[in-house]
Amino acid sequence: MLNRATIDSVSAKNPESLTVLDREYPTDSWMNIPPSILAKTVCRLHLQPGHPLNLLKARIEDHFEKFSKDIGSKGFRVKDSLNPIVTVEQNFDDLFISKDHPGRRPTDTYYVNEGHVLRTHTSAHQREALRTRDAPGYLVTADVYRKDEIDTSHYPVFHQMEGIYTFDRANLETEAALPASLSTPANVEVTGAKVCSETNPGQDVHTLRETELVGAHLRTSLECMVRNIFDDPNLRIRWNDDYFPFTAPSWEMEVWYQDRWMELCGCGVMKQEILDKTGNESRIGWAFGFGLERIAMVLYGIPDIRLFWSMDERFHSQFKNASKSSVVKFQPYSKYPSCYKDISFWCPESYHENEFSEVVREVAGDRVETVALIDKFTHPKTKRTSRCYRIQYRAMDRTLTNEEVDSIQESVRQMVSDKCGVELRG
Ligand code: PHE
Repeated sequence: MLNRATIDSVSAKNPESLTVLDREYPTDSWMNIPPSILAKTVCRLHLQPGHPLNLLKARIEDHFEKFSKDIGSKGFRVKDSLNPIVTVEQNFDDLFISKDHPGRRPTDTYYVNEGHVLRTHTSAHQREALRTRDAPGYLVTADVYRKDEIDTSHYPVFHQMEGIYTFDRANLETEAALPASLSTPANVEVTGAKVCSETNPGQDVHTLRETELVGAHLRTSLECMVRNIFDDPNLRIRWNDDYFPFTAPSWEMEVWYQDRWMELCGCGVMKQEILDKTGNESRIGWAFGFGLERIAMVLYGIPDIRLFWSMDERFHSQFKNASKSSVVKFQPYSKYPSCYKDISFWCPESYHENEFSEVVREVAGDRVETVALIDKFTHPKTKRTSRCYRIQYRAMDRTLTNEEVDSIQESVRQMVSDKCGVELRG
């Protein structure tokens, strides 16, 4: 149960340093990581044997191991224990993410100090992996952190896998050639340009032929992977043009699953500068990145992203002894009843929804399932904006009592008014 002491401890201001996985970082006024998020940095769910994210990771790594044999490659080096705190250069600058990109804002990203963040994507490790130059490929799996809205498929910590593959540029025709047996079947649709176009241009430093070869190798690699993961040789796949500042051209891959297109993965031909700056001037390559939870949820039938963090044996026992080659279907245990509470307030100019979500999570933890904006209006005279949110409370492992929900809601109200500069209504 929450009481004033708990609220004070979660709102405790900036300790002078913090230690994450045995490394100490000084903090400054940029520090905006709440204790509940900090606590997640030690979990590394992708490394826990028998956890569904670990099962999926192993399944994908196995696939790539086999795939690299099929294509006569020296294979992919696995990196899965990199520290979640990275520099602003690693996470943004090195990837040409512009200084004014919204993703850099403290309302979107967790800062330890002005120069360090909790990585928001595994691409933050591209250069580090490439610098080792010990394999043509890398698979980097890691927990990543983003402030976000609250619903059954969003959580401020999730897991990504980054794939990187490079070729000797002088030998590209040979190295990028793939066995005919792997070629793209008919159920792959391409909505954008096949190679590049004016709106999805290649890089001046690459010839069209190079872009074509690297792009084709990338697409086939990903197509083989998802057909294998979903265990469906006829899986429908669609390629759309996309944009990332660190790849050109860039694409997104979608798969048709359970009657809808599901966005799975961003990818593209790596910016040559990234290779050049890491001692790989003579190489050319591709990269992709995708979220593991999204795939695990559909593959194993996991209905709520909070379940990955659950301690409930009824969840873990279903995966514990699963072999990575078979796909377990999760049998949901009964859903406990949920309870809705509304909160409305006048917002200051600086109001940001992610910060409100964060406060709700900090107080309610995983007992909050969704937060939905149900009403918003601007006062015609004062021009002040009022928002009303409906918070859905539900625990995954028990029925919440009325008193408990009332008390959480009261704490949410206090914390929101203290921390978000809003004026509560009603
Ligand atoms: N890092 C990107 C994201 O999180 C995905 C990506 C990885 C795109 C590698 C292109 C290449 O959205």
